[in-house]
Amino acid sequence: MPILGVNIDHVATLRQARRGHEPDPVRAAHEAELGGADCITVHLREDRRHIGDRDVDRLRVACNVRLNLEMAATDEMVAIARELRPHAVAIVPEGREEVTTEGGLDVAGQRDRIGAIVAALGDRVGTISAFIDPEPAQIEAARACGFHACELHTGSYAEAFFEAGGDFRSERLSGALADLEAAGRRIVESGMRFNAGHGLNYHNVLPVARLAGLSELHIGHSIVSRAVYTGLREAVSEMHALIRSVR
Ligand code: PXP
Repeated sequence: MPILGVNIDHVATLRQARRGHEPDPVRAAHEAELGGADCITVHLREDRRHIGDRDVDRLRVACNVRLNLEMAATDEMVAIARELRPHAVAIVPEGREEVTTEGGLDVAGQRDRIGAIVAALGDRVGTISAFIDPEPAQIEAARACGFHACELHTGSYAEAFFEAGGDFRSERLSGALADLEAAGRRIVESGMRFNAGHGLNYHNVLPVARLAGLSELHIGHSIVSRAVYTGLREAVSEMHALIRSVR
C-alpha cells in the first residue's frame, strides 16, 4: 500500500489571492495530518506565487509527518534546502509561465548539472527524488545522477482517463497506465523508490495506487478542491481510505 503525500500549495494560492494571512498552510498541514496524510508536500517556486519562505520554515518545525520540498534545480533552492533540511526533496522542472508543473524534469538532457545538484544536496536532506516522465532514458539518468527515488508524472494518464471517461478499453488510457507500470518496474529494478503524482483524483487514483512496487502518491489539487465542500481533514481521509483499500 503506497503512502499519501498531500500537496498544500493551493491553500497558499487562496491566501495569496488577497495577499493576506488566511488560510494558513500550517493549519492546513495539521488538518491533513489528522485526515491521515503521511507526508506534507509544498513547492517553493522561484516566483513565490503561493508557498513562501516563511511557510516552509514554519512547516519544517510544525509538521508531525515528513515534509517533502518540491524545488527547481537552482543554486538558490539548493541553499534553501540545505538550510531547511526537509525529510524529502523532489527536483521538478519550473517555468514562469506555466500554471502548474508541465512535463517531467529532463534529467537525461542535463546529467552533469542535475548530478551536481543532487551531490550539493548530499546528506543535508532526506530522500531526493526526480519528477520525470515514464521514459527509460530519464530513469537511467536519474539512477546515474544518484537520485534515491523517481516520482513519475501521471499527468498524461490523468488526461487520458478523463478523455476516456475511465474506460480502459481506450488504447490511450490503457497505454498510459502500461507506460507507468513498465517505468515503475524499471525504477524499482534500478534500486530506487517508485513514487507517482500529478492530476490524480478520487476517480483515477486506484489503478495507479495498485501498481507494483509503488511507494508514495503525491496529490494536491483534487484534495484541496474537495476540501472546499467537505473540509480538508475529511477530503484527505477519503483519499487515504481509497488508497488503503489497495492490497
Ligand atoms: N507531484 C509533483 C512533483 C507536483 O509538482 C505536483 C503539483 O504541484 C503534484 C505531485 C500534485 O499534483 P496535483 O496538484 O495535480 O495533484
